[in-house]
Amino acid sequence: MKVLIVGSGAREHALARSLHLDPSVTELHAVPGNPGIGALATLHSQDPNDGVAIASLAVNVRADLVVVGPEAPLVAGVADAVREVGIACFGPTAAAGMLEGSKAFAKEIMAAAEVPTAEPRVCITPTELAAALAEFGAPYVVKDDGLAAGKGVVVTDDLTQATEHGEAIIAAGGTVVIEEYLDGPEVSLFCICDGATVVPLQPAQDFKRAFDGDQGLNTGGMGAYSPLPWAPPGLVEEVVQTVAQPTVDEMARRGTPFQGVLYCGLALTSKGLRVVEFNARFGDPETQSVLARLKTPLGKVLLAAAQGRLAELPPLEWSEDAAVTVVLASHGYPESARSGDVITGIDEAEAVDGAHVLHAGTATNDALELVSAGGRVLSVIGRGASLADARATAYEALSRIGLAGSHHRTDIALAAATDQADS
Ligand code: AMP
Ligand code: GLY
Repeated sequence: MKVLIVGSGAREHALARSLHLDPSVTELHAVPGNPGIGALATLHSQDPNDGVAIASLAVNVRADLVVVGPEAPLVAGVADAVREVGIACFGPTAAAGMLEGSKAFAKEIMAAAEVPTAEPRVCITPTELAAALAEFGAPYVVKDDGLAAGKGVVVTDDLTQATEHGEAIIAAGGTVVIEEYLDGPEVSLFCICDGATVVPLQPAQDFKRAFDGDQGLNTGGMGAYSPLPWAPPGLVEEVVQTVAQPTVDEMARRGTPFQGVLYCGLALTSKGLRVVEFNARFGDPETQSVLARLKTPLGKVLLAAAQGRLAELPPLEWSEDAAVTVVLASHGYPESARSGDVITGIDEAEAVDGAHVLHAGTATNDALELVSAGGRVLSVIGRGASLADARATAYEALSRIGLAGSHHRTDIALAAATDQADS
């Protein structure tokens, strides 16, 4: 089959890599893609958020399946436009994508489906904001209702900072969601859905803060690992039963079936499992670690989801290996992102046994050199028999890459690898 991937990050490069390894995938296209994806797929230059343009591209390349990576095209209705021209599309409709597009909507669905989550208050005036902050107390959790690329959330003990963030969102015409603080470790579980059936992938953990020890600003994600040796037995089944399946059932009941990835961002709190957030797509960088471990050919799974046939699939097969992803970020990220720095050493990094490198913010300059072109530049993935081995592989590979002014976290999966070695 011919597959068209929409997006340009390391998540889309991970999807392209897995689809390229699937013997049923005969031709790969990507829009707009990046230089790394370009080694596996034919690249196209249409606007990824323009549904009409993407649908006509899918027709022109005779795609059998379109896979939409990021949230912006989903919320813009790209999956709807592709389905309207009769092509299977992996990714929710704009209506179902509201599970990610509006935190207030997601809370409404969770309430209706009795999914455990932090108690929310939706505020549209400074008075409501002040009342909600007073009601919950510190630590304050202040969220922009709409899409904010992972940067709309402030968690702070400082009432002034919480108030300022909330008032800035309101002043910009937005809606603020204030919610109860959730303690405990976070887990990302991606559930493949076809509108009715839910097939979970393996859980992963993401590192959202910019610097070691969870210091610095929230980012799109600086690293991830899978599996989670510390996760309680039965976690995946519990999430499917108490979170994903009730949510998918509620969306179907409302006439807006959810098809695509339901990304369950969870906190394992002292009071039990709670949903921190839903996303309507694969997570980045968790996908880089999770797909590195999936043995079942990915194309078949995504096509079955797009065609409502997930119930027919045999169980997914997983490698016993661990996978650790470390993100190499450009100078200044996340406040800014310097572009145009030359990247060296990718071949040397991939020569490390068990390592591979995925592109995100990369481009080719006039001298045909590979250069940085965004905040998160590369994902370096290491696989190994244990998390410690996978970490060692990822960091050895990363040490071979040159990018002036770049930074990365040195503690991805460190605590989990140490605990695994202890137990
Ligand atoms: P979100 O965009 O909703 O995923 O939030 C980004 C990050 O903020 C999450 O990954 C958490 O680390 C943190 N966060 C969000 N909501 C809460 C909450 N209710 N309690 C504690 N931390 C939270
Ligand atoms: N890893 C966080 C996200 O994809 O939103």
